[in-house]
Formats: sequence, C-alpha cells, structure tokens
Amino acid sequence: MKKRVNHILVTGGAGYIGSHIVELLVKSKNKVIILDNLVTGYRKLINKKATFVNADIKNKSKLVRIIKKNKINSIIHLAAYLNVSEAEKNKKKYYLNNVLGTKNLIKACKNTDVKNIIFSSSCAVYGNVSGAVSEKKKPNPIGYYGLTKFKGEELLKKYQKKFNYNYGILRYFNVAGASHSGKIGEIETSHGHLIKNLAIEALQKSPQIKIFGNDYKTKDGTCVRDYIHVSDLADIHIKCLKYLNSRKKSFVLNCGYGKGYSVREIVNIFKKLRGNVMIEVLKKRPGDLDRIYSNTKKFKELIKWKPKHNSIKKIILSAIKWEKKLNN
Ligand SMILES: NC(=O)c1ccc[n+]([C@@H]2O[C@H](COP(=O)([O-])OP(=O)(O)OC[C@H]3O[C@@H](n4cnc5c(N)ncnc54)[C@H](O)[C@@H]3O)[C@@H](O)[C@H]2O)c1
Repeated sequence: MKKRVNHILVTGGAGYIGSHIVELLVKSKNKVIILDNLVTGYRKLINKKATFVNADIKNKSKLVRIIKKNKINSIIHLAAYLNVSEAEKNKKKYYLNNVLGTKNLIKACKNTDVKNIIFSSSCAVYGNVSGAVSEKKKPNPIGYYGLTKFKGEELLKKYQKKFNYNYGILRYFNVAGASHSGKIGEIETSHGHLIKNLAIEALQKSPQIKIFGNDYKTKDGTCVRDYIHVSDLADIHIKCLKYLNSRKKSFVLNCGYGKGYSVREIVNIFKKLRGNVMIEVLKKRPGDLDRIYSNTKKFKELIKWKPKHNSIKKIILSAIKWEKKLNN
C-alpha cells in the first residue's frame, strides 16, 4: 500500500517556532508549504525542503487558492502578532491579524481536503492563576493578546462540524532555546522574550538585564513562567498531528514542563554562567501575568510524550549558542 503523505500548510513557518516545526516535518514523507508574510519571519529560517509562499492570512482568496492547489490536508497555524504590550496599545492591529486572520484561514478550509488544524494558542488565555493550571481551567484572559488567542480557539471550535475538521489547540507556555542543528533559532527581537534578551546580552562586554516589575504577587516579586525548549515543542506538534490522523479527535493541550521559574531565578542562572551582569528593575509591562505554569497530566496521557530538553540551564545555553552563530 502506498504510504500516506501529509500535505501540510504551516502559517508562520518562517518564524521562530514555525521553522523548528518545519525542520522536523520535512524529515518524514510530508509535503510542506510555508505561508508567511515575513512581518516577523526571516528568509534565513525558511527550510529549503519546503515550498515557500509569501502571503498574508488576511487574504482569504489567496488562502483558498493555496489550500486547493496543494491539496492541503493539515494546517499548523502559527501566524500571529505576539507582543503582549503592543497588543494593549494597538488592539485593532491584533484583532485584524490574530482573530480575523484565523477566521479567514478556517473559512478557506470550506470544501477542501483539510482534516486537521493545529492552532498555536497561549497560556495567556488563562489569565492570572495560582499553582499549576490544567486545560480544565476556564480561560479568562486579562491581556488583549491572550484574548485574541482565546477568540482564535473559539473560532476553531465554532466551525469544526460545519467544515468537518478536527483541531488540536496547543496552549504554549514560554518558548525558548534553539535547534541543535545550529541552522535555526529566534531572530526577531521585538517580542520582548527574556531568554532571547539574555542571549543578546551574553555577547556584550558588560551585559545589562532589564527586569520588568518586582512587585508581582510571587515568591520574589518577579513574574513566574514555565519555559519549554522549542525543539520539544516542535516534537509535540509532530505527535499531535499523528494523534489527529489516527484518532480523529479534537483536543486542547497545555505545552509546558510544569515547573515555574521567576525572572529573578532565570537571571541568577544567567549570572552564574556569564559573571558581571548589571540588573535594572523597571516598571511592570502592561498585560503581563503574575505567575503561570502548566499542569502536565493531560499532556503525558494524551501523547505519551517525554521531554528531551527540559533543563533550564541547557535552554539558556542553547539560546546563547544560537545568538553567537547569528552574529558571526
Ligand atoms: N514564542 C512564544 O513564547 C509563544 C508563546 C505562546 C504562543 N506563541 C504563539 O506561537 C506562534 C509563533 O510564535 P513565534 O514565537 O514563532 O513568533 P514569530 O514572530 O517568530 O512567528 C510568527 C510568524 O508569523 C508570521 N506572520 C504574522 N502575521 C502574519 C500574517 N498576517 N500572514 C502571514 N504570516 C504572518 C510572521 O512573519 C512570523 O514568521 C504565534 O501564534 C504565537 O502567538 C508563542
């Protein structure tokens, strides 16, 4: 029997996480189409074994053409804006891209071969929670970015029966690190990601680290987050796609390791690695949550998956290694 080949559309595949997913997808018999408008994506991150289409998810007729022409049966939808503070200041921009863009993409699946959609959601949909948060917790986003992700989830659920697909909603926690291949990693600097910022500073003579807020309701006053290595996260997508193909059942899944680190703790680990580091404490950023980390029970049950890169020190070191490569 001929082996089934997935025709997979990866929106946002020229971005940080998308490029890591594509790197794994092209290793097996998948036909991979990357759709990206390069707003925060980079040509350098585009995998040569995939087909690249420079397009915008806001352009529905183009989406329809691409999905039909390439007989797409699975979509991994990452394309979005993700700067939490910018979202508070420019809600319309985030609504148009993250909510209407997602709606366009879903509607473009009408009368096509699309059977699976994996959506990059975020732990930001939960709002402030104390302790480990499970998928059963009712979403209550406090920031606008989180709200756009929640709306995306609702749209996927709303159109599921009508357009006959199954969805996998993946609520990522904080993604960091870089592929061991050395070919890809995070390039964009506008998202304000802590570990990316540490990696940039690691290359400076006198690193300066900004901590945004030290009066959160946490153990040391700084925000607490659950950091997941991007290669582990990419692997989860492969497992989830297999699950959707075999079980044909929709699901919502948290993607984190289940351990929270405060910003101060991360900075202290960095200090041990790098020595003289200047720390500046600034005001809180609008939209940031106090503390959030994942309950990993469902995660282990559903895809029976074990992380390979869950050491915070290794995550930081891999981000620094990539940063050095990027600057050489
Ligand atoms: N990085 C994290 O820690 C994190 C955490 C939770 C959720 N997420 C989600 O993961 C996804 C990917 O994030 P990332 O960290 O790789 O960021 P990224 O900016 O590197 O990737 C987003 C990609 O989407 C593309 N894009 C944006 N708007 C588009 C549009 N209208 N049409 C076509 N392409 C468009 C960008 O050019 C970019 O390549 C996003 O949906 C984000 O909300 C990320």
